[in-house]
Amino acid sequence: MGRPAPKHLGTTPATAGVEVRPTFAQIDLAALEHNLAAVQSHVGSARVLAVVKADAYGHGAARASAAFVEAGAWGLAVSLVEEGVQLREAGVLAPIVVLGGVAPASADVLVHRRLTPVVWSVPQLERLSEAVRRTGARQARVHVKIDTGMTRLGVLPGDLAPLLDWFARDQGRTVTFEGVMTHLACADDCTDELSSKRQLTVFEDCLSTISAAGFSPPLRHACNSAGLVRFPGAHFDMVRPGIALYGSASAQDVQLAGLRESMSMRSSVLAVREVPAGVRVSYGGRVQLERSSRLAIVPVGYADGYPRNMSGSAQMLVRGHRCDVVGSITMDVSMLDVTDLPGVRAGEAVTMLGTQGLGQIDLHEMADWSGTISYEVTCGVSKRVPRHYV
Ligand SMILES: Cc1ncc(COP(=O)(O)O)c(C=O)c1O
Repeated sequence: MGRPAPKHLGTTPATAGVEVRPTFAQIDLAALEHNLAAVQSHVGSARVLAVVKADAYGHGAARASAAFVEAGAWGLAVSLVEEGVQLREAGVLAPIVVLGGVAPASADVLVHRRLTPVVWSVPQLERLSEAVRRTGARQARVHVKIDTGMTRLGVLPGDLAPLLDWFARDQGRTVTFEGVMTHLACADDCTDELSSKRQLTVFEDCLSTISAAGFSPPLRHACNSAGLVRFPGAHFDMVRPGIALYGSASAQDVQLAGLRESMSMRSSVLAVREVPAGVRVSYGGRVQLERSSRLAIVPVGYADGYPRNMSGSAQMLVRGHRCDVVGSITMDVSMLDVTDLPGVRAGEAVTMLGTQGLGQIDLHEMADWSGTISYEVTCGVSKRVPRHYV
């Protein structure tokens, strides 16, 4: 064993950034727990499968998962096998549902790590069954996904019979039929109730078919965040919220009341420049200053997940006041007009997302500036932005 690395050399680039670069994303673990509790209270006795794919929508999957389990989540859902493995390695013992299915090379690891894949075809079941037999592992648990109208993943209702025949032949020896699910395509579209209702009717027909074939999977689930708000009659045994747990929604009119946003983005002023009227600012010189201005240089840019296409719309908070971002957002740095705030200096706190004093910039607003949804904002905060957990 060699000597331990000196502390300053032993840090990862992300943790080194804590010391030298003031830009960070703050994750409020109490808000995550609060949001889980708010969803649980809304859905009553239905279980909550907390969706933590894509690194818990950018929050950090291990820490967010621990918070959700602590707050009473039944289990966690990820998209990729790798994401499930990462959680097991972080010590998560709760059930982990892998939404992305059983890829040809993934059966052994799914079985070995006790991950619960979503399946929609006989070959997927065969792969799992073979892995269980080969490794002598306990039965694998699966959730069958039915495509009732999302046109993405899942077995079509008319093709369900071969899967049921397969379960009948297996008799639970290698694979346990634990759950059945579907996903709503338009849960957040308040102008269109019909298509979700149609999907739910198809799902219920499939549940009847499954029951008539002699199966009673104990976990039936259909609703994401918007679905659980808009379709209280469709909570079944479990709901699958993602964005609600992070305090937001795909649209404001389907947001559960009382949620708290769990991510904020913060930095501090790197330098202040006095710039005369008429000068052009940033790449392309697209903005020409109309007045003599003081510009605060803030070390956050599109490489941090502060999208360039917000140039011309974005604002940040300094001392709780909104200040305009001037000119093009660059890879590492943005320019902020602080002319109306006397005495702003290097080192002053800046909030890009979240609250500061009486000011607030929320996820919906930032998503609007970027022409996207709040999911993409939090998922887009890049790896070089350290997460600070409070
Ligand atoms: C299958 C599935 N269920 C649930 C969710 C969670 O959705 P939301 O974040 O809108 O609650 C997702 C997210 O995309 C999903 O793909």
